[in-house]
Amino acid sequence: MDPIATLDQAITSAPDTIEAAGSLEELERIETSLLGKESAVGRVRQEMGRLGDDLKPTVGAKLNEASGRINGLLAARRAELAAVAEGRRIREEAIDVTLETLTYPRGSLHLVQQTIDEIVDIFVGLGYQVANGPEAELAYYNFDALNTPATHPSRWESDTMYLDWGAPEDEVLLRTQTSPVQARWMETHDPPVYIVVPGRCYRKDTIDATHLPVFYQIEGLAVDEHIQFSDLKGTLLHFAREFFGPQSEVRLRPHFFPFTEPSAELDVTCFACDGGIAGCRVCGGAGWLELLGCGMVDPFVLEAAGYDPGAVSGFAFGLGPERVAMVRHGIDSLRHFIENDIRFLGQFR
Ligand code: DAH
Repeated sequence: MDPIATLDQAITSAPDTIEAAGSLEELERIETSLLGKESAVGRVRQEMGRLGDDLKPTVGAKLNEASGRINGLLAARRAELAAVAEGRRIREEAIDVTLETLTYPRGSLHLVQQTIDEIVDIFVGLGYQVANGPEAELAYYNFDALNTPATHPSRWESDTMYLDWGAPEDEVLLRTQTSPVQARWMETHDPPVYIVVPGRCYRKDTIDATHLPVFYQIEGLAVDEHIQFSDLKGTLLHFAREFFGPQSEVRLRPHFFPFTEPSAELDVTCFACDGGIAGCRVCGGAGWLELLGCGMVDPFVLEAAGYDPGAVSGFAFGLGPERVAMVRHGIDSLRHFIENDIRFLGQFR
């Protein structure tokens, strides 16, 4: 066989053979079959010694060309297969950090807590401090220090939950209001006083749409020189406008609380109808929403706490955040607040 033709044939067929290699191992076998001793190229190489001098240079050159081309093709294919193998290795060894894990639905603060936070924030913005007191309270602070005599019906066992019942000085109860913190704070702090007291309260009430035996109040107390009724009204108007919107107006209706004189209830204009639509779903057409109790601190309360009513005066108020939240969101029953139904709770994020 003509060695030149053999080598040309080897050069022509090499690309397809090499391209067909599916793995590095296979490519190695192909390399042997194309360039090894038994290959066409290998056999020509062995023949070289026996060729006549006239043929040696051309066959030698062709031989170099053949092995050079084939080696080039092998190197290129080797690089390709190595890249594929590397890619596969990376894919197989990769840790899938996107793997789904257990996810917990994100919760939110309870609407009552959100409401408390928002109201407290408004007063903190006016310079008020946040104060706290015990839920298991002495009857003295819950009643006596607040000008509520032993004969007052709210002190009856039918209204108040007692933990320790007996001699009036030692009676311990679950506080029925946050007002006792007024007395506790004034006993331990000199005026001026500007505090808000969010906290839990307890009464012997059966659960219904408008009563809970465990509920919240936010108490407010301001005592300083020259505090007047207009300060009370201005402060609560500011609160109403911050909470219900800048168009809100307030009105005060005379009322009675043992610890304030005069006492009043504060109404705010209905934010839904602006005080005028018959059958409004929020105010029922009244135009006003009842918001809280308030008044000028009774001199007796100042005196019981060790303050001089001749030197300082003050105002106080108490509101129920559940009621405020109901009014604002059109919630029809207090029960929603304690049923822990996430379909309800999830609406207030
Ligand atoms: N403690 C009263 C209640 O539970 C609410 C209240 C009314 C608090 C008037 C006050 C106030 O500080 O001045 O009904």
